[in-house]
Amino acid sequence: MEILLTSDMIQQRIREMAGEIEADYPADENIHLVGVLKGGFMFMADLVRAMGSRVTLDFIAVSSYAKSTKSSGEVRLVKDLDSGLEGRHVIIIEDIVDTGLTLTYLQDILRARAPRTLRTACLLSKPSRRKVDVVVDYIGFTIEDRFVVGYGLDYAEQYRNLRDIAVLDGE
Ligand code: IMP
Repeated sequence: MEILLTSDMIQQRIREMAGEIEADYPADENIHLVGVLKGGFMFMADLVRAMGSRVTLDFIAVSSYAKSTKSSGEVRLVKDLDSGLEGRHVIIIEDIVDTGLTLTYLQDILRARAPRTLRTACLLSKPSRRKVDVVVDYIGFTIEDRFVVGYGLDYAEQYRNLRDIAVLDGE
């Protein structure tokens, strides 16, 4: 497999993103990170370790591509959050924004829970595939329209454990 982003590149960018995020919030206010399972778990784990102590976190799960590399366009809530968002500074932590359908759905349902602020951080963005215009406040890397795996991202549940991000063979 062709490696697109090495572990070192990913870690360096995450440290920068952590700094950008922390600079955007008052120093004495908590930031509540909502990780999107399963793809966002590794990004979440590294991002929180790159941030200071004023962070809490929770996870939400939505349906993904199943065994296809093409989006079905259907988004379904599979696991909800453990706690409410009212009055909190919330950031959605997602692996990749592709068509934007998943994030649009998540932003809509989380905004309805009255957070004080709601932002989104994505490690990867494929802007050429966008179907809906979704706002992503923090983007790690902008990539071309290629199917990538590793660092949390899967193909049919495989490859999530790779440290690097690679282009899947045959793409
Ligand atoms: P969207 O709703 O089309 O923006 O898709 C977002 C979701 O699709 C992500 O959370 C991923 O789970 C999945 N996805 C999109 N592109 C890729 C890819 O290149 N590799 C692995 N998963 C992807």
